[in-house]
Formats: sequence, C-alpha cells, structure tokens
Amino acid sequence: MAQRMERLLPTDTVTLLRHIGEAGDALDCPTYVVGGLARDLLLGRPSSDIDVMVEGDAQALGRRLAEELEAELECDDRFLTCKLILKSRRPIDVATARSEIYEHPGALPKVQRATATDELGRRDFSINALAIRLNARHFGKVLDPFGGSDDIRAGVLRVLHENSFADDPTRVFRAIRFAGRYRLSLEERTHQWALAAIASGAVDGISVERRRQEIIAILSEPRPAGCLALLAEYGGLRFIDAALRVTPEVERVVERIAELVSQELPGLRAGEAADDEESWPESWMLYAAALMEQLGDERAALACRRLRLTAAATKQIVAAVEHSRRSATAMAEPDEVPASRIYQAFVGMPLSAPILALALAPSPQARSRIRGYLGTLRRVTADITGDDLLAEGYSSGPAFAEALRAGLGAKLDGRADTREEQLRVALTVLQQHAGTDALGGPNQEG
Ligand code: CTP
Repeated sequence: MAQRMERLLPTDTVTLLRHIGEAGDALDCPTYVVGGLARDLLLGRPSSDIDVMVEGDAQALGRRLAEELEAELECDDRFLTCKLILKSRRPIDVATARSEIYEHPGALPKVQRATATDELGRRDFSINALAIRLNARHFGKVLDPFGGSDDIRAGVLRVLHENSFADDPTRVFRAIRFAGRYRLSLEERTHQWALAAIASGAVDGISVERRRQEIIAILSEPRPAGCLALLAEYGGLRFIDAALRVTPEVERVVERIAELVSQELPGLRAGEAADDEESWPESWMLYAAALMEQLGDERAALACRRLRLTAAATKQIVAAVEHSRRSATAMAEPDEVPASRIYQAFVGMPLSAPILALALAPSPQARSRIRGYLGTLRRVTADITGDDLLAEGYSSGPAFAEALRAGLGAKLDGRADTREEQLRVALTVLQQHAGTDALGGPNQEG
C-alpha cells in the first residue's frame, strides 16, 4: 500500500502521513489513517481528508503534532478526540480507538479506549472499516478485519452486522450514497436489512434535520444519477414528495448538470465578484430542481418546506422549476433572438433557472444563447441611471424603469454603445410616455 499511497496522494500528504506515523512512534502508539482516505486508497482513488486513529492518547498525539507542525489544536474530552488545523487551514482529525457502551437504551454512551479492530467494528460498512498503518516500520500496512478489500474487489457494500441499520437508520441513506458513488451493489443480506429498516419505520423516525442533511449529501455527490435511482428503489424519494419518479429523462438531465458543473460552469462563473457569489446555486440545488421539475413550482415549494430547506435554497429550486423549461424552449427559436430578449428572459431570476434551462435546452443554438446570458449578458449594466433622467428634467415614476431598460436593451443589442446614445433611447421612451401621460413630462420650472 505504501507504493500506492506515493502514487495516488500528493507528495505533501504522504510526507504529512509519515510525519504523523513518526509522532505515533515517539509516543509508542499504533497509529493509522482511517475513513474516507483509507477507503479511497483501497478503491484506487485519490482522496484528501485525513482522519487519524491511535491506539493510545489521541490528544497527546495531537499536542505533539500541533507543536511540531505549528498547528492549532481543538480537543473534545468527551470523545477522546482532537482536531488539528494546519497553517494551510487543512484539518486533521485525530481520535482514540474506542468503544462506546450504552448502559441502557437512550443513555449517553460511555466511551472507553479500545483496540483499532474494536473501533473499526463500530463503523457502518466494511469499506469504511479499513485502516492503514502510519508508524515508520509498518507504513502502508492495511488493517482489514471485516473483509473490506474483498468487498471492494467483489463490488459490494456490506454492513458489519444485522443491527447496523436499526442502530443508525441514517446508514440507509449512506448506503445509497456510497453504492451510487462507487457503483457498488448492496450485498444481499445488507439489502434485506436495509429494506427491513425501512419497513419497520426506523427511517421515518430520523429527525427532519438529519434526513435533510442526508438527502443534501446524496444530491451533493459529483454524479448523483445512480444515487437517485437507488433512492427511488428504496422508497426514499417520498421524503421529498411521494409522486417523484426517477425517469430516464430525469437521469439524462442530472447527468447533463453533472457535466455542466464540472466542465462549463466554472468558466461561465469566472470573474464573479465576491458579493455575487451568494446568487450562484450550489450543485445540489440544481439536482433537486432537475428532480422536482416534474412536480411543478407549487408542489416543489411544498417539497422544499417538507425538507425545511433554507429560504435561499428554496428560492433557487422553485425558480428553476418554474421557469427553466419554458425559457429553454423560448431560447430554441430558429429566428434570430436579440441579446436584449435573451437578457429579459432570465434577468431577476436566481441563476439556477438559466442553468437548468441550459441542461434542458433542446438545441445547440438555445444552449449558446443561454451560455451567452450566463457568461456575459447577465453582467452588462446600462451606462445611465435614474439620476441622468432626473437631470434631464423628468420626475421619477414608473416610466423610469422602462426607459432605463430600453437604454440597456439598446446597449445589449449593439444599437447604443455610448452613454449619450443610451440616454437618447431612454428619453424617447419617456417622451412617448409624456405624450400619453401628462404627469410624466419634463419639469418646466427649471
Ligand atoms: N460512520 C458510521 N455511521 C454513520 C456515520 C459515519 O459508521 N452514520 C463512520 C463511517 O465508517 C465513516 C466515518 O464514520 O467512514 C466518517 O464519517 P463521514 O466523515 O461521514 O464519512 P466519510 O466516509 O468520510 O464519507 P465522505 O467520503 O462522504 O466524506
């Protein structure tokens, strides 16, 4: 495994892991890297989160490393854990191998030191119950007491015991997430136990808060289409809305969004001012919108409420559900569509709407128009303001917005590049209004 670590991990990560192992040697503690990094190495994937487990005092190891690496240290005495924050801001979690004993159901667990194997035995799936030794003499040696490597080779996800899902029903959602992410199938008994946990109502008993976290975690996967199909198979979509289906069309749009998120959107977003960042949807909101599009906007809003999503997330999702399909169709018009019309189609909407429209757009031409909006048009502003119209002697009123829009439209369409030309267009609008509305004309006093 040492060679694979050198191959898959950045050099500074390997150096850091060796350093942690040497600190473990100095304290005479068997020291391991566990969790996502160990699992991903066995799967042959790069990974970055460092979770360290020691058979010994994690906080003593943490203090030593904090001094050597000039890192910040936060300790949690209840769970015998600590967190190092390196100068680069990279976090490292360090935990004592422990067992937790519940003296009676519902009691807080009594935490005791234990062996690495005991610690791994408390975990959810065999692929997560792996550890890689960091001490110098054993660097890279794999500790795999529950057959995680065999399961990786066989392509299966397996819980460690029959009560795993009953003990922690959120593991049903985690199973869906890991199986979808790594294209594993649930081992037969694991599959049956997951179904039993769902049938018993254990999954319904999860708090709304944790359920929301798990669903967002699923939708935050880089390619969630497989996860969504599994969520449907295990009946989990009803926590969003009972009528939802993962149709081939939904899968196609979700795949398309995954491509956009990884390949196109970063370029279209380049140069975003920091204060604009809030308006950019997180990828999970786009996938949620792609899924909920079949519900229509009112029912999608109810689904967001059911999950108790934030107002900002709800706004992104519902706007995309409401507007994206219609706009995508409008943008596919074969005749020329002026830039001002593309702008008007999306202006004022959360950006999830044009992004989902881009994923739904039926033709290359429609896509290029929407790209144009996301990449440049949305950032264009008029070179005149209401003050310029006031300075021309007009009193502010509803016609101002229309006049400024017309000035901007003319700029977008290349008919008014300069401030003066835009002003002329805006004044024409105001004059037309003045013709029909006596109050809209220029002030004569002065
Ligand atoms: N874990 C568990 N049961 C849970 C949550 C977590 O057994 N309900 C264990 C898993 O074995 C996991 C470890 O705690 O490896 C860390 O959990 P987390 O950070 O959530 O998972 P990762 O495996 O790091 O997942 P990801 O790659 O998505 O970050």
